[in-house]
Amino acid sequence: MLSRLSPQSPDKIIGLMQQFRADPRADKIDLGVGVYRDARGRTPVMRAVKAAEETLWRTQDSKGYVGIEGDPAFLEAIGTLVLGDAVPAERIAAVGTPGGTGAVRQALELVRLADAGARVFIPAPSWPNHAAIVNFLGLGEAAYRYYDAAAHALDLPGLLADLETTGPGDVVILHGCCHNPTGAELTLADWAAIAEVLGRTGALPLVDLAYLGFGDGLEADAAGLRLLAGALPEMLISVSCSKNFGLYRERVGAVLALSPDPAARDLVRGNLSNLNRQNFAFPPDHGARVVTGILGDAALRADWAAELETMRSRIETLRRTLADRLRDKSGSDRFAFLAGQKGLFSLIGATPDQVTAMRETHGVYLIGDGRINLAGLSENNIPKVAEAMLAAGL
Ligand code: LMR
Repeated sequence: MLSRLSPQSPDKIIGLMQQFRADPRADKIDLGVGVYRDARGRTPVMRAVKAAEETLWRTQDSKGYVGIEGDPAFLEAIGTLVLGDAVPAERIAAVGTPGGTGAVRQALELVRLADAGARVFIPAPSWPNHAAIVNFLGLGEAAYRYYDAAAHALDLPGLLADLETTGPGDVVILHGCCHNPTGAELTLADWAAIAEVLGRTGALPLVDLAYLGFGDGLEADAAGLRLLAGALPEMLISVSCSKNFGLYRERVGAVLALSPDPAARDLVRGNLSNLNRQNFAFPPDHGARVVTGILGDAALRADWAAELETMRSRIETLRRTLADRLRDKSGSDRFAFLAGQKGLFSLIGATPDQVTAMRETHGVYLIGDGRINLAGLSENNIPKVAEAMLAAGL
């Protein structure tokens, strides 16, 4: 039976992670997978996480099952963190999931339960797993323009024109903030324009929120999706706590589904619960409980927000430092866009051959589409990365 399986090639991000680990060069630089790194290249356990874990270890007296939707206190805390008071609680159905990927998967499975023929509009470009999951589930895949590669900027007219072609049977994936892979952000006015179009076409937004806090800060990064939530009757949000709580391997995520009224909310909640039951039964609890402990304790929450802000501003500094170095070494402003973009990622405009040359000659690892993770930079390695980029002909 199992010999009938077809070989699978790893996702390009996961494949690069494996390649990097196998590279024996001591001075290799990982600008691949989207994890935060500090100045020493480590992905730290955040202070508030350590403290909340310690409390949990001391006080938790059972590892018995929690509800199929996850811990209600976690779902309430994450709903408030993401949505603030943009929508009343009776519009929200929420379930815990294994990480943000689990949340995207559950949200798209919910779509398939509602309409197996749904088309999912994905920004061009996007996180590769969006299209992979859409295709795996047998949903229709469509693209909308998002990024003008020549201008290194958002293509708002293209985006709006393409969203005009959507209809009630369609889903539109939007990145809540820190667009992956481009770092090109939507302004609040852009979100308002999207809300206006989707309000007319009836397409359902699925907002993927994996980097809350890494763009302009916790509140500013949630403002766009909150605007959308207040303007439209239905919306799905996939939330990840991997990056902003540094809980990657603990797999902490949630789906928030917004409905127009409590009866519709209950229908959605029942379907989400059933999907959890089918796919993994109970969502992982340890990391979710750590998040709840942090968000529910004023001192821990303040410390977490402060550490996240340090991480966010470090990435901003690294963006500026790399852009400055490239300007000095190239004598041109063609990399100035790096300083203005947001979050962990930017596309440096490298061809696949240039990506290979940077990896093979200089040990600088980036995704094949030219995406770099700015958090993989440090004061020490920026000169080498800039040199590798220019030597590759960028
Ligand atoms: C990334 O884009 O590198 C991260 O979101 C990690 C992942 O799961 O792909």
